[in-house]
Amino acid sequence: MTDRTHLLAPDVAFRPAELTDAPAFATALTRNRAYMRRWEPVRPDTFYTVEGQAARLTALLADRDAGRAMPWVLADADDRVIGGFTLSGIERGPFRNGRLGYWVDEGHTGRGLATAAVRAVCEAARDRLGLHRVEAATVTDNAPSQQVLAKAGFERIGTAPGYLHINARWRDHHLFQRLLHDDPPAG
Ligand SMILES: CC(C)(COP(=O)(O)OP(=O)(O)OC[C@H]1O[C@@H](n2cnc3c(N)ncnc32)[C@H](O)[C@@H]1OP(=O)(O)O)[C@@H](O)C(=O)NCCC(=O)NCCS
Repeated sequence: MTDRTHLLAPDVAFRPAELTDAPAFATALTRNRAYMRRWEPVRPDTFYTVEGQAARLTALLADRDAGRAMPWVLADADDRVIGGFTLSGIERGPFRNGRLGYWVDEGHTGRGLATAAVRAVCEAARDRLGLHRVEAATVTDNAPSQQVLAKAGFERIGTAPGYLHINARWRDHHLFQRLLHDDPPAG
């Protein structure tokens, strides 16, 4: 456990993702492939392999090192990945914004884990990353995800037609934001 690990439940940790998580991501994403299909872009089979996840994490960690992304995982008591939370597209200057994406293992939904993790992401975005705003978008009929965002303090700011290519179709999305503070940009 590092100083950046939070326990969200006695058996669930929220911590930064590392390249060594690639096998656990491959296992978890394969296990949840059918469950998440409705809310995800169509992925090639290679995405679900250890190599595919290692390539994804390598790119993401390079973006993290460049200040453009920050990936976290939810891990169970055996340090198996049971969820992923990522801020990407981070911009600074007067915008100070990041885009949030997330998923939770089907077997662990309904425990408040996504809500707690989204709150932890926002805390880190404000206190560690110096951001002012976090944005998220959900397919218009993804009620559980919209409920998570509402509980974590996000407001719905609009609806974008044909916003993302999800499950093989351009899908309308509700857009959400959470403003993290009122201070001017630091540094
Ligand atoms: C969306 C997701 C992350 C939620 O994870 P979770 O850990 O179950 O979330 P939480 O337990 O914190 O909260 C879920 C909320 O949705 C509610 N919910 C569940 N099914 C619902 C439904 N069909 N209609 C309305 N609300 C629903 C739950 O009751 C809960 O709210 P409550 O605490 O007020 O009762 C998870 O279902 C998931 O990974 N889905 C597939 C991928 C996905 O949709 N990612 C987000 C893309 S924008």
